[in-house]
Amino acid sequence: MTNQSKDVKRAVVTGASSGIGAASARALVAAGWQVVGLARREDRLKELSDELAGAFSYRVCDVTDEASTQAAVEGILGAGPVKALVNCAGGAIGKDPVAASNLDDWRSMYELNVLGTLRITQKLLPALKEAEGTVLVISSTAGIEPYEGGGGYCAAKAAERVMARILRLELIGQPVRVIDIAPGMVHTDEFAVKRFGGDQAKAQAVYAGVPDPLTAEDVAGCVQWALDQPDTVDIDQIVVRPRAEGSYTKVYRQGS
Ligand SMILES: NC(=O)c1ccc[n+]([C@@H]2O[C@H](COP(=O)([O-])OP(=O)(O)OC[C@H]3O[C@@H](n4cnc5c(N)ncnc54)[C@H](OP(=O)(O)O)[C@@H]3O)[C@@H](O)[C@H]2O)c1
Repeated sequence: MTNQSKDVKRAVVTGASSGIGAASARALVAAGWQVVGLARREDRLKELSDELAGAFSYRVCDVTDEASTQAAVEGILGAGPVKALVNCAGGAIGKDPVAASNLDDWRSMYELNVLGTLRITQKLLPALKEAEGTVLVISSTAGIEPYEGGGGYCAAKAAERVMARILRLELIGQPVRVIDIAPGMVHTDEFAVKRFGGDQAKAQAVYAGVPDPLTAEDVAGCVQWALDQPDTVDIDQIVVRPRAEGSYTKVYRQGS
């Protein structure tokens, strides 16, 4: 008997309401995937659904909430097989030094970036095995190279990367790929604004003078390329940065 779910290009993308997640949904649809987008803001998901017509559907879902995620997964699996999970929901809060960090900020970042990714990955893993599919995480170079003020975010993204790496080891011999894409500086509309609690000036300063930070579309291209490799080719890790960024602390800025 042939495994038909293996050939169905249907992906779940968390964090699909903005930035890299929305761009990934668009790139995957353009490459022939059906995409189910997850996020909390229904209006944004609905807009994307209108734009992408029949190829994109969505479920309102808070990945930090067990019941919300369970309901979303049940709905998704009830409608068909899943070939790929793109864990994009995530983000940073604040840039305080460790000595002055707010415990709740750290807790929220861990809940979202690490436990949110773990929660939905666990729930979709049986279906992904059935489809010979892929778990993909969007981690960050923050998880590779710690920087001052990045304590809680770097720790969470390091944990997310380690989780992906260990999952890959634990699944050896089983038909699932695990891919970690770690972007450097990506100029999305909301990431830095949220990090700095809505302070636009601080958010814009992140990208000041940097020629061509990555765009959400640049990262989405990596996602689509990695997912469209053969099932037997695991792209273990991709580190992708703008040309102007050698590391978080080594960034070329015009005029400075
Ligand atoms: N921008 C960068 O420089 C950069 C660099 C490296 C890695 N990254 C990582 O890339 C990912 C996307 O970042 P981005 O720049 O595209 O930022 P973004 O535009 O702020 O996207 C974050 C997404 O996560 C969703 N989200 C937040 N909390 C959620 C929750 N509890 N449940 C479900 N969805 C939730 C948001 O949607 P709702 O608010 O509608 O729920 C949104 O769609 C993140 O994991 C980030 O850490 C970003």
